[in-house]
Amino acid sequence: MKCIILLGAPGAGKGTVAADLAEQTQFLHVSTGDILREAVKQGTAVGLEAKSYMEAGDLVPDEVIAKLVRERLAAGGADDRYMFDGFPRTLKQAELLDSVISDMEGELLSVFLLEVTDDVVISRLTGRRVCKKCGAVYHVTNIPPKVEGVCDKCGGELYQRTDDTETTVRNRLDVYSAQTSDLIGHYDSLKLLEKVDADQGKDLVEREIIRCLEDLESRQ
Ligand code: AP5
Repeated sequence: MKCIILLGAPGAGKGTVAADLAEQTQFLHVSTGDILREAVKQGTAVGLEAKSYMEAGDLVPDEVIAKLVRERLAAGGADDRYMFDGFPRTLKQAELLDSVISDMEGELLSVFLLEVTDDVVISRLTGRRVCKKCGAVYHVTNIPPKVEGVCDKCGGELYQRTDDTETTVRNRLDVYSAQTSDLIGHYDSLKLLEKVDADQGKDLVEREIIRCLEDLESRQ
């Protein structure tokens, strides 16, 4: 198992980049946020536990995330390549990932830090719209669908996430600074961190990451 991590504040564009890269590379997109939202929708025990944390913009406890990630990876094969979006989010989760990688004799190839300013985050998240049916992500002005409120890919209805209000987004930014930004120093000290200017348009962001992945590939 080989993997990369997309690290960055809420709204940095991790999910958008991951969805596009999953079509262009062999990396499978694993988003703990998407897994949790599905659990909430299905009303599972994990969903019931996670719901209030997510609505407030707080982190779901590490033990819940550990269980979800272990289950997701156990369902895959030894040769799978994963692109983690929104995981790990705490040093404890980073330790968990290290131990899973070592159990599977895998490798963490690189950690892409999508750097974005707070103003850009607020405008991106308050304007984000997501397809109810296939999960495709749009933005009302930056990346609009062809027909307002309708998904280009599947015709599904677009909705606004309940945690995309300005108050909750501001709390998510505080939570990121307090609990997730420690990971930047952690991965930098392991010489795995690649910084990407994520204020720029998505095509440029993706081009930069793909160039790094090609470099990595050529060195393997
Ligand atoms: P999660 O779903 O992971 O949310 P997040 O990290 O807050 O990230 P977002 O999905 O909001 O942003 P993104 O970076 O993916 O941006 P996107 O590509 O959509 O987590 C939600 C909640 O679940 C958490 O708050 C927590 O409660 C819980 N959770 C999840 N994982 C957890 C974990 N590991 N541990 C504990 N709790 C966990 O883009 C945003 C918008 O900008 C879109 O509208 C998009 O169209 C637009 N856009 C994207 N890129 C660009 C660009 N380059 N230029 C212009 N517009 C762009």
